[in-house]
Amino acid sequence: MKVLIAGGAGYIGSTVASACGDAGITPVIVDSLATGRREFAARWAFYEGDIADGALIDRVFAEHPDVGAVVHCAALIVVPDSVADPAGYYRANVAKSLDFVGHLLRNRCPRLIFSSSAAIYRPGADLAVDEDSPLDPGSPYARTKAVCEAMFADIAAAEPIRVLSLRYFNPIGADPKMRTGLQLRRPSHALGQLIQAHAEGVPFLITGTDYPTPDGTGVRDYVHVWDLAAAHVAALGSFDALPGPSAVINLGTGAGTTVRELLDAFNRVVGHPVQAREAPRRPGDTAGAYTRTDRARRLLGWQPRYDLTEGIRHSLAWAALREQILG
Ligand SMILES: NC(=O)c1ccc[n+]([C@@H]2O[C@H](COP(=O)([O-])OP(=O)(O)OC[C@H]3O[C@@H](n4cnc5c(N)ncnc54)[C@H](O)[C@@H]3O)[C@@H](O)[C@H]2O)c1
Repeated sequence: MKVLIAGGAGYIGSTVASACGDAGITPVIVDSLATGRREFAARWAFYEGDIADGALIDRVFAEHPDVGAVVHCAALIVVPDSVADPAGYYRANVAKSLDFVGHLLRNRCPRLIFSSSAAIYRPGADLAVDEDSPLDPGSPYARTKAVCEAMFADIAAAEPIRVLSLRYFNPIGADPKMRTGLQLRRPSHALGQLIQAHAEGVPFLITGTDYPTPDGTGVRDYVHVWDLAAAHVAALGSFDALPGPSAVINLGTGAGTTVRELLDAFNRVVGHPVQAREAPRRPGDTAGAYTRTDRARRLLGWQPRYDLTEGIRHSLAWAALREQILG
């Protein structure tokens, strides 16, 4: 079987492509290179272009009639940009996804896996969420994910396509074989900032120390990107046994990590510890959440294999190699 990976030249899509390739499922990539990297798609059949381009998608299916499923990772993902340009984000993430699913239906594609996000959950008193927890996306970006999930579920109820939305928590790390990783030079998430502070010898800012969490700092569920990728391989294998025309599964580790715990874990890995300074909350930040993992285990037979320390090690190893691989 082949799998079409939309956004397969990006961080997560390229890792999913490697995991599929390693498992004997041949990836075919469509990516506009809006943020993705040609180098990440070089090993596979690669179509540079937009998911909304019907002629392009028709050509992909004509040239690869054995594509049996699509993984849809193509999106714009920068939360502050989505606040500044909501119309642009709805166009890129929702309108183009609607066009894309039309092209998939025309080409009789029966299976769609959609990259959704934990950012759609309502921040609440309980830090642990599951798939039935209340939703309340906190940004235009997150709302595009919630709208797409609902849109795909409606379409799956009426058309011959089934949809699985995978809600990713906080991906870290890189392909353990270092074929791909985060393409950004300055990632804005906490681990990215720790790596930068370490490289530049400057203090790391702990933004927010008065959250209702065990030590007052924000909680995240850091899931290794290779584990995320492995979950897609598992999903492709168990797709036809999923209940109903559409399903939702959270992908995280089941453990919450506070910013202070992340800092401590980071400092245990590196030779020269990073110093930290406390700072006020940033606008829009929340206490965060971690997921219960029962559904992923039950429906996909999947559970994460890499721990936080390995995620940090692989992120550091990739940061050291990034320039060499991507120039
Ligand atoms: N990185 C995270 O923390 C995170 C968390 C939860 C969910 N997600 C979701 O996972 C998916 C992948 O995220 P990522 O971190 O790999 O981001 P990324 O920016 O590295 O990858 C997105 C890819 O999609 C491509 N793309 C964007 N619009 C396109 C279009 N219209 N047509 C064709 N290609 C297009 C980009 O060029 C890029 O290669 C996204 O849908 C994102 O919303 C990411």
